[in-house]
Amino acid sequence: MKKFAPSSPHSPLEDWPQYVIFDYGEPGKFVVDMNLADMESTARALVAPGKGILAADESSGTIEKRFKSIGVASTEENRRAYRELLFATPGLGESISGVILFDETLRQKASDGTPFVELLKKQGIVPGIKVDKGTKALAGFPGEKITEGLDGLGERLAEYVKLGARFTKWRAVITIGPGIPTRTCLQANAHALARFAALSQEAGLMPIVEPEVLMDGAHAIEWHFEVTVAALKLVFEELFEHRVALEAMLLKPNMVVSGKDCPRQASVKEAAEMTLRCLRQAVPAAVPGVVFLSGGQSDTQATEHLNEMNRLDNTPWQLSFSFGRALQAPALKSWKGDPKNIKAAQTALHHRARCNSAARSGKYESEMER
Ligand code: 13P
Repeated sequence: MKKFAPSSPHSPLEDWPQYVIFDYGEPGKFVVDMNLADMESTARALVAPGKGILAADESSGTIEKRFKSIGVASTEENRRAYRELLFATPGLGESISGVILFDETLRQKASDGTPFVELLKKQGIVPGIKVDKGTKALAGFPGEKITEGLDGLGERLAEYVKLGARFTKWRAVITIGPGIPTRTCLQANAHALARFAALSQEAGLMPIVEPEVLMDGAHAIEWHFEVTVAALKLVFEELFEHRVALEAMLLKPNMVVSGKDCPRQASVKEAAEMTLRCLRQAVPAAVPGVVFLSGGQSDTQATEHLNEMNRLDNTPWQLSFSFGRALQAPALKSWKGDPKNIKAAQTALHHRARCNSAARSGKYESEMER
């Protein structure tokens, strides 16, 4: 599969040069020899039946917050030890297809000297990398954020390829509040996501595009629905403008849920139905998979929602997970920074991974939690 831009002056689309033809042998000017087939198979492997992604790409600031909750100092060695615990979990590869790493982690090794990338590969897990540099205040738009990290991204991606990463992730954050989000914020973030995805595909790294509409706030689920539809539509418009091959990417959206502080909390069924309706309105069928973030839902809630969606209906995309907190929270609590607790922490992670694996086919049941 190759990407072409129109070259024939007789092309019916000559005034509209945004289209992509997939290897039908049409005359066309070769744009860039990306390895689309490889990226497409990476995307498909990551959403293989029964499997999902472990997001372990907490930035230095975020991991410090997580460690603080268990009274552990965020030193480089503690971060390394914790990630080793996660990645060395026996049988993790049965339900985890890929792990998203942070820059520091991609370069680290297990205590026996095995690079983490190799450790993951031995488990049959594909290593990926978070490449955004976090969010900053969006100038002129109080309360809104823009994700940074495009400057020099091409060079960083080339290094990540050498370090063994096979896919990338970029997270945009949309906040709901009085008068926000604005269209400008949605558009600026969609644009950055598309530029990231285009650069990533050019480097041969399959991009995971993550526009997260936060569940923080007292908004009703209907408002979360409206904003998520708008955000996703703009994201796919920009991906189209930037000639991103939809077959060779994954979407990582929020589920549509009630705001955390909303007095009326939607049921699991409502949230699942509204999330599916939202995705159908905004996500092209060419995208191989949707891998949800957990976004501050409890671990069991995130699993229940995923399960319900997979029970409800057939969708054109695989519906899977790319959870951070909803996979790691019980493991982190069990570990508490003590090497004696490693086994218990690994058991906790393995259990959550198994529950979410069952939810991939709507086969999760609350009895599994006992
Ligand atoms: P959560 O599942 O904890 O929301 O994390 C997913 C993630 O990767 C955020 O960027």
